[in-house]
Amino acid sequence: MRRSSNSWSYVGMKVSKRDHVSLAEGASKHSCDITVTAPCSSSRVTDDAGRPRPNRSHILEHCEPSRSSRYTANMPVDVDACVTSNVHLSDDYNVVRLDAPKLAVSIQPGQFVMIKPIAGLEPLLRRPFSIFEVLTNRNGVRTGFALLNKRVGIGTELLYSIEVGHRIGCLGPLGVPFTVVAPPHEAWLVAGGVGLAPFLTLAADLRGHGTATTLFYGGRRSADLYYLDAFTQLGVRLVLTTEDGSQGESGLVTAPLERALVASAVSAQPTLYACGPTPMMSAVASLATAHGRPCQVSLEPIMGCGMGGCYSCVVPIRKSGNDPAHLVRACLEGPVFDGQRVVWDRLQHVA
Ligand SMILES: Cc1cc2nc3c(=O)[nH]c(=O)nc-3n(C[C@H](O)[C@H](O)[C@H](O)COP(=O)(O)OP(=O)(O)OC[C@H]3O[C@@H](n4cnc5c(N)ncnc54)[C@H](O)[C@@H]3O)c2cc1C
Ligand code: FES
Repeated sequence: MRRSSNSWSYVGMKVSKRDHVSLAEGASKHSCDITVTAPCSSSRVTDDAGRPRPNRSHILEHCEPSRSSRYTANMPVDVDACVTSNVHLSDDYNVVRLDAPKLAVSIQPGQFVMIKPIAGLEPLLRRPFSIFEVLTNRNGVRTGFALLNKRVGIGTELLYSIEVGHRIGCLGPLGVPFTVVAPPHEAWLVAGGVGLAPFLTLAADLRGHGTATTLFYGGRRSADLYYLDAFTQLGVRLVLTTEDGSQGESGLVTAPLERALVASAVSAQPTLYACGPTPMMSAVASLATAHGRPCQVSLEPIMGCGMGGCYSCVVPIRKSGNDPAHLVRACLEGPVFDGQRVVWDRLQHVA
């Protein structure tokens, strides 16, 4: 391995600084106290018409068969999906729609895909994205999915500027989905910024169950709150906050959430779902514990492979109560976790 100013070389391949960190951190975390409860899944590699094509990933070729896995999702597929639209919501956010029927057919809310916007080596590794929306045709048949993207670096920049007609390598659906509650339970979704991404598919599923749903959604300013109409059309009650007070209540989203928990009737029995910045999710999990409510969080650690092979995604989890924390791979055991099992003060170091 050789290093230059901004990149490293692995057996002749140039690797960006971030991908080097993913690979190197994965290797060092591998020697931590890791409890592995879910072996790697295998994958079919097809083009989007379902025709077999050569497998591009050594990770996929050398997976062990599952023994005692919590990973119960359907078999992921690896497809080159065609971009059918790219709508810029702001200077930072966009929504990309992809034609991918083979992948879309088995998506469950909270799952993610690993995507590679270009075929080249920069970035070398795929990037993880929540499935924002499942797309269907007039007959209700699933045809693809959409991603909500916030550009923060090289991979998300490429996704922001991708053109209609381009193809994106997509591996998925991956990960443990949300557990969807049914009446008499209510669902309270808590989203900060791009943490909105897994909640549109969840809200659609909750509507199918007839579950009363509220979205607590916070952004820095009014212009950062997206897709409000789509949630309203699903019958979701909105509680909005902005840090500058330009829409909804001024301040953080956890303030109205706390008031609602204090005021909620016993009959509401809300289950909390959270996705967003780690401090927000940690605060939501604490509020859930204080009020005796269940809480599912969708964590977003850096992921190198999404398939259990690199250990770049490990997060500290307790099995229960005061058990010691152990590191588990978020791509296999998550990204959705019981918020009360996450060891939040150690997560800051890892993520
Ligand atoms: C399960 C999962 C679902 C996700 N869903 C979405 C989504 O729906 N929409 C979306 O826009 N993003 C999502 N993310 C985050 C997204 O994967 C990262 O923003 C992306 O990998 C950054 O790649 P990049 O090449 O643009 O940035 P890089 O050039 O690799 O890095 C730029 C900066 O972003 C930071 N960064 C990298 N990865 C993450 C991360 N996971 N979280 C926070 N900061 C990071 C780096 O530390 C660095 O400071 C998700 C992450 C996970 C794990
Ligand atoms: S083990 Fe590679 S991302 Fe989880």
